[in-house]
Amino acid sequence: MSTTDVKDAVREKYAQAALRVRTAETSCCGAASARDRGNPITSNLYNTGEAASVPEGAVLASLGCGNPTALAQLRPGETVLDLGSGGGIDVLLSARRVAPTGKAYGLDMTDEMLALGRENQRKAGIENVEFLKGEIENIPLPDNSVDVIISNCVVNLSGDKDRVMRESFRVLKPGGRFAVSDVVVKGDVPDEVRQSVLLWIGCIAGALRNDEYASKLAQAGFEDIAVEPTRVYDVEDARQFLAGQGFDVDALAPQVAGKFMSAFIRATKPQACCGPSCCSESE
Ligand SMILES: C[S@@+](CC[C@H](N)C(=O)[O-])C[C@H]1O[C@@H](n2cnc3c(N)ncnc32)[C@H](O)[C@@H]1O
Repeated sequence: MSTTDVKDAVREKYAQAALRVRTAETSCCGAASARDRGNPITSNLYNTGEAASVPEGAVLASLGCGNPTALAQLRPGETVLDLGSGGGIDVLLSARRVAPTGKAYGLDMTDEMLALGRENQRKAGIENVEFLKGEIENIPLPDNSVDVIISNCVVNLSGDKDRVMRESFRVLKPGGRFAVSDVVVKGDVPDEVRQSVLLWIGCIAGALRNDEYASKLAQAGFEDIAVEPTRVYDVEDARQFLAGQGFDVDALAPQVAGKFMSAFIRATKPQACCGPSCCSESE
């Protein structure tokens, strides 16, 4: 499948997900037909205090696989960018943490998700937020303009992850932090899983191996890289991912069990320029 085909399939799936949020029938990462409440990837990511501090629609729209703002250090006055911001829950939580002088940007390519994010912003009455339309492979912000990049279960959806990491490096200020939740794989997974479009748009098939994630970040110029598992998916979870997609679930689920996990990925852009391969063009 070409990168363009992946992107079109992802956009279509998340446009539908945004529309379904309005009737509280979300379908999200992990299993194309799962309801959010029982989904092993997306359920129970936020504590009650966090959930209560944003509009209900932002919680209902949450399609992530972690809680990056809980694990990222955010300070008042900082600029945060959320790659693939969806309904905006992490943008709103970040905006509160960097207020009053800081700002949180949400970047998404899907119009329906941007509309949902903006609606949730209005309901929350939070002003230091801006939603931008665009692709994470081509971030519409200047070089060296962001303190912290967060993201929640989006990099795995990209067909060009090297470019996402190069773009993240470019827009971060020297010393800026990459603090991302994502699905990663430990070891190898069967080819039939890798080749499934439905599993790709459900945040499974496009997941990088944890060592590949780290080496792609290093290639982009990042340092202090760590990939820390936050939730490992067992055989029952694997059954849920694979169900209803034409697989022999009994044969495949045990091969997949324990290999997929949600992880928090940290990295830092070096403070000082260390050579042409790790500096942005403008430095
Ligand atoms: C799994 S949802 C996660 C949404 C949000 N981060 C959350 O935690 O609820 C993926 C989101 O990323 C967006 N997305 C996927 N690929 C993208 C890309 N290449 N560029 C920009 N947005 C993208 C989708 O439109 C969708 O809103």
